[in-house]
Amino acid sequence: MSGPSPDTDRSTKAGAARSLTTVPPALRFLTCGSVDDGKSTLIGRLLYEQNLIFDDQISALERDSKKHGTTGDDIDYALLLDGLEAEREQGITIDVAYRYFSTPKRAFIVADTPGHEQYTRNMATGASNAELAVLLVDARKGLLTQTRRHAVVASLLGIRHVVLAVNKMDLVAFDQSIFKSITKNFAQFASDLGFKEIVPIPVSARYGDNVSSDSANMPWYSGPHLLSCLETVDAETDSDGKPFRMPVQWVNRPNSEFRGFAGTLTSGSARPGDEIVVLPSGQTSTIKTVTGSDGDLALAGPGNSVTIVLNEEIDVARGDMLAALRDRPQVADQFAAHLVWMANEPLLPGRSYLMKINHNWLTATVTDLKHRIDVNTLAKLAAKTLAINEAGVCNLSVARSIAFDSYACNRATGAFILIDRNSNETVAAGMIDFALRRAANIHHHHSTVSKSARAALNHHRPAVLWFTGLPGSGKSTIANLVEAGLHARGIHTILLDGDNLRHGLNKDLGFAEPDRVENIRRVGEVARLMTEAGLVVLCSFISPFQAERRMVRELLPEGEFIEIFVDTPLEDCIARDPKGLYRRALAGEIKNFTGVTQPYEVPQDPDLHLMTVRDQPAALAAQVIDDLARRKIF
Ligand code: ADX
Repeated sequence: MSGPSPDTDRSTKAGAARSLTTVPPALRFLTCGSVDDGKSTLIGRLLYEQNLIFDDQISALERDSKKHGTTGDDIDYALLLDGLEAEREQGITIDVAYRYFSTPKRAFIVADTPGHEQYTRNMATGASNAELAVLLVDARKGLLTQTRRHAVVASLLGIRHVVLAVNKMDLVAFDQSIFKSITKNFAQFASDLGFKEIVPIPVSARYGDNVSSDSANMPWYSGPHLLSCLETVDAETDSDGKPFRMPVQWVNRPNSEFRGFAGTLTSGSARPGDEIVVLPSGQTSTIKTVTGSDGDLALAGPGNSVTIVLNEEIDVARGDMLAALRDRPQVADQFAAHLVWMANEPLLPGRSYLMKINHNWLTATVTDLKHRIDVNTLAKLAAKTLAINEAGVCNLSVARSIAFDSYACNRATGAFILIDRNSNETVAAGMIDFALRRAANIHHHHSTVSKSARAALNHHRPAVLWFTGLPGSGKSTIANLVEAGLHARGIHTILLDGDNLRHGLNKDLGFAEPDRVENIRRVGEVARLMTEAGLVVLCSFISPFQAERRMVRELLPEGEFIEIFVDTPLEDCIARDPKGLYRRALAGEIKNFTGVTQPYEVPQDPDLHLMTVRDQPAALAAQVIDDLARRKIF
């Protein structure tokens, strides 16, 4: 979620020759609001009025306006910002483009976030390091759900300054009462969103009223026009006055003499002699040298990319954090966080996702979804999942301890994203609230009798035989025959079956996706415990999702999880229908029925593939037992 840093600012015309010392840092802002509120037109108009467009862009703009524009013979300023025309025609979506421009008073970085459907996703990406949001409202329509949603997302992402641009004033005859009522509604709605400042401005992006000059059409308005507001707003940057933090991006070790830790300072400063701590290990040292791209530095600050060499030889890896000794970040493997969900597939608590945080990649699970935020009322609603564009609060558990700050303290080190492990798609933006202390107070207890000692008494190795397949595919029949065969050979077994566990341990769970995920998570943990006891655990569960089957595999040591796909075509399952459930599901009497109204994800690479149309259950069970012998389970 990181955008460009100010030192990569390639300011256009007006800013090029200025001395850097006289200008405040660039203001990062984004435009948001509902579809068609005029985001692109507004910024296009601003650049045009400030002569920040190159001449060739203007002629191209005039040409394009005639060809694709929506404004008749006038120039369609939106096309300027949608200058990604070629890409759009090829159907490529670009998430966020950063535009750089400056006036004599200030430099700006505006996150331009095209794309309508998944706007919240793009917005979250653009907002993660912005200081101000220009929230557009169509004066004819007033506040819409999407307007409120974007205000909420901006607030969650730590934006404290909002310009409420009430656009298309020309279409409501520049009526002051309309502006007033929208302004009042927004102030009411936003009172709990923690904004420091909301500046309402009535504008017409198309005709330039109150964009970069005062409008003659609205003499009743005496506030600033948009540009002067942007030029003068006092938006402190996120890194001001914060302690030293540098997530290590890369360990530079060209030879045994030199070991430097490369990364970008997210906040604070670093200079030779500073005392630092490396987290999560907690080892301490002092800085020997700080090197930038042009050589050694006496001092590095936020946004600087540097290599740091320490005086002591200590272990530091990519993803560790170098931090101020006396002002440390938190370290934990469980924490509470806000999430903005951005994928079509809903959030499933219990499923393992990939988390990217401070140059760490690790598996992460939402252990508890506390509530969803209703974007219209800001009410906290009970929820089992988050759908696309929804925000909520949850507890997360990650695979190992990491260093972070709360997002409220540090937007760089408190932010993360979640990635779907199958599709590699970014599914959520996250903001950490606080570490969960309970995790820090729980320790692993060592027992004198080890897992291998227990297995040695059994004269066979433990394993999990995971039977997966459609309802009625024959999983339980085959698993039952396998268990009988193993038992006859003196092997200690236990059979866990979906129907049976759903009468006890899992009787609180139904068949909606989040419940199935939790079902398999629990079964996986139980199966793992039973392997600790040295047993061969036979599990017969539909387990329709690849992600959860993989999760159970990863709970166990390599080779201990054996995935057995009981492959029966859906037509045959429907024809057999041993419990009469398909008939009822097809008649619409059972919701969420696997194979009918819910998907079954076929195993891509099972350890064993049993074809029930070819062989009888007894023969298939024999195949499984032979396979276990080959794997030297017994
Ligand atoms: S899983 O998907 O969560 O792995 P599990 O194997 O525990 O499912 O339970 C499946 C059993 O529940 C089926 O054998 C069937 O008897 C019963 N069942 C009841 N409703 C459904 C449903 N909607 N979808 C699938 N199975 C159902």
